[in-house]
Amino acid sequence: MTSRAKILFITIAILFTGTAFKLIQEADERFGKYKYKDFETPKYCGSSCHVQFYQQWDQAMMSKAYTHEWDEIEYFKLAVAHSENDPDMKGVHDGCNGCHTPMAYLTGDVPPPRPEEGSRANESVNCDICHVITGYEGDTPYNFNYTVDPGQTKYSSRIGEKESPNHEIKLSELHSKAEFCGICHNEKSPFDVWVKSTHLEWKKGPYSKEGVQCQDCHMPKAKFKTAEMGATYDNTRLHLFHGAHSPTKIAGVIELRMNPDIQEAVPGEPVVFTLALFNQKTGHKFPTGSVEDRIAWVHVEAEDADGNIYHLKVDEKGFEGEEYTIAGTDTAYEDMAVPLDDPGFKGVRREDVPVGDRIFRMPYFDPQGRMTIMQWNTDSLGTDYRIGPRETKMETYTFNIPYDVSPGKMKVRAVMNYRLLVKPVAVLLNVPEEEYAIHKINETETEIEIFP
Ligand code: HEC
Ligand code: HEC
Ligand code: HEC
Ligand code: HEC
Repeated sequence: MTSRAKILFITIAILFTGTAFKLIQEADERFGKYKYKDFETPKYCGSSCHVQFYQQWDQAMMSKAYTHEWDEIEYFKLAVAHSENDPDMKGVHDGCNGCHTPMAYLTGDVPPPRPEEGSRANESVNCDICHVITGYEGDTPYNFNYTVDPGQTKYSSRIGEKESPNHEIKLSELHSKAEFCGICHNEKSPFDVWVKSTHLEWKKGPYSKEGVQCQDCHMPKAKFKTAEMGATYDNTRLHLFHGAHSPTKIAGVIELRMNPDIQEAVPGEPVVFTLALFNQKTGHKFPTGSVEDRIAWVHVEAEDADGNIYHLKVDEKGFEGEEYTIAGTDTAYEDMAVPLDDPGFKGVRREDVPVGDRIFRMPYFDPQGRMTIMQWNTDSLGTDYRIGPRETKMETYTFNIPYDVSPGKMKVRAVMNYRLLVKPVAVLLNVPEEEYAIHKINETETEIEIFP
């Protein structure tokens, strides 16, 4: 295609997908069909009956999917503003609520009042939404294609030995399957690109073949009561939903092991350190979900016998798009100019990580080919350099032993760090510091002997 034809094609594609997206909202008969009073509040479910589940859910991100600061900032400052400032993006923010506060979507309360106003939209992904889901439309669960049946019948994976004094329970196989989660954990952008594919990654990976569901890791089974007056089962499903915001869940996700190619070296000699990174914990890729925001990176340092520190840069492998997986000083995210209403906005640094460190990520690109964190503005994906479930990635670090090094034992340490949101974006948008704090995933150490 010539570049003019390409531009024309992209323009038509934008117009088409923009309209298609809008039409989906308008034609969605669920949108605005219900009233808030058709749904129970989590307090109602959890104050005297499901007390423990309520407390577990309240600690999880599910209960904050609408109110959490970064969600509020991205929704109002970027998504809603983008819809207002760019006619092709009209209505794009409606869909956010289908997953983040499904009741608001189903009642047509869009955009919902700000979290500080304390409306029922703040209930986010509440008990009743998940327990009135009856199925999903089509073959693939994605983009909140749930079907719902609000009312006195609750849907779950077990009828139970004791009857509920409050509601009927209808058996739903779906609730014990990963597809249930995929309804909100797979997302396609208006440009038809998979911008969230946690369930699809799981499906391709080893855990689905062994029958291990999302629930097995995020709603683990324990001997526990389902309700204050309910039965105790050996395999009650805890409502932990612990994920990237839970330090204990991300700790040790990747195992590290490093070895040198020789055990003794003299100044000037090259030594190659090989690092193996094994994903032992996730059922999908790491990172997954909000991949546009998340980065994991490895920092390798050598320390000689006198405590002098040397930074080891990763050896390039030479694959296409590798530049996005090695920390640099480039700028990105220029597309925020439109929602921020700042035509002079030149972007911010792509990441704020020591130059030369390997980054495990997948970049998202806007229609102009620039890297973006606005997943709804994603027209293509870059190289996928994340670590798959039970995958082992190998990295090498060639280090020419410096001439001024102190003889004796040289320790070499590799640390894998993780950030929920790339720091320069977080700082630009005033996102609370905890959202870009560095979490250590794991570390390992090896040593060699340096002779004078
Ligand atoms: C109605 C939509 C919906 C369904 C169904 C759903 N989720 Fe979520 N889930 C969300 C949203 C929205 C978030 C994001 C919260 C936020 O804003 O960070 C989320 C976040 C999470 C997190 C991340 C927590 C963290 O600490 O970052 C985990 C884990 C999770 N869900 C697991 C599951 C599992 C397992 C299932 C299936 C049993 C499931 N979800 C079903 C909407 C849903
Ligand atoms: C993100 C969706 C989601 C949310 C939110 C949610 N649940 Fe559940 N719940 C499930 C799923 C899925 C199961 C069944 C898991 C399975 O069988 O693997 C379940 C199971 C249950 C069970 C039966 C447990 C058992 O072991 O038989 C009860 C009771 C329950 N939920 C109550 C609640 C209450 C109360 C809340 C709110 C405090 C809540 N749920 C919030 C998805 C959800
Ligand atoms: C074998 C265990 C396992 C299975 C199966 C599994 N997960 Fe996870 N999941 C993890 C671990 C460990 C983490 C924490 C590391 C991370 O953030 O990726 C995690 C993280 C997450 C996160 C947060 C990711 C982020 O970066 O914000 C979400 C959302 C999630 N899982 C959803 C799911 C869904 C949906 C399924 C099923 C399709 C699923 N998980 C299956 C272990 C599992
Ligand atoms: C198909 C369901 C779905 C749609 C539509 C959706 N989201 Fe999400 N969103 C999720 C899930 C699930 C997560 C959690 C993924 C994870 O933990 O990595 C999430 C995570 C996020 C996060 C990161 C939260 C964090 O704690 O780091 C932000 C911000 C966000 N979404 C904003 C939006 C905005 C704005 C829109 C609309 C333009 C939108 N989402 C549309 C399901 C959805």
